[in-house]
Amino acid sequence: MSFKSLISGIPDIKDMDVDKEKENILEFCEIGRDILTHPRYEEMKEYNHHGDVSCHFHTLFVAYITYKTCLHTDCNTVEATRAAMLHDFYLYNWHIVKHDELHAFYHPKEALKNAEHYFGRLSDLQRDMILAHMWPMHLTPPRSAEGMILTAADKICASFDFMKVSEKFIPIYNKINEVVSGYENN
Ligand SMILES: [Fe+2]
Ligand SMILES: [Fe+2]
Repeated sequence: MSFKSLISGIPDIKDMDVDKEKENILEFCEIGRDILTHPRYEEMKEYNHHGDVSCHFHTLFVAYITYKTCLHTDCNTVEATRAAMLHDFYLYNWHIVKHDELHAFYHPKEALKNAEHYFGRLSDLQRDMILAHMWPMHLTPPRSAEGMILTAADKICASFDFMKVSEKFIPIYNKINEVVSGYENN
């Protein structure tokens, strides 16, 4: 599968209707149920990622786009969706907390470390997806189609954040949170 065909499979957020997405939202939540209900994952609501967009919103936006794109390919949707949910699980306010390395290069490693600490060893596919998601800022591209989809979804969603288009995802984000709250109350 070519990079072009992967990218053309990425859904247009403007066409997404929360009612039509209902079945997909339920499946998406079920795929990441243990992740989405974890208190450390919910903590990402407190960290700003881009502008006033939280890290929690951004990662779910990217993960949902990754999930939807994978459905139209022969990619491993479950593994890809879970890795996308964890791609920015670095758990600090990068505007305040600084490291020797620039955040752009440091945070994928921290996200992977936290992901494996809280959710167990990830597959090689998932590890590479998380570590390579900032490509092409670094030279090594993702080794899989799933990784290419994640890095493309990440760039698209980040652009939407800056262009203030991400609000189109708010109804779906709210529905995901509603489903997750339902898990926590049972
Ligand atoms: Fe990132
Ligand atoms: Fe990201």
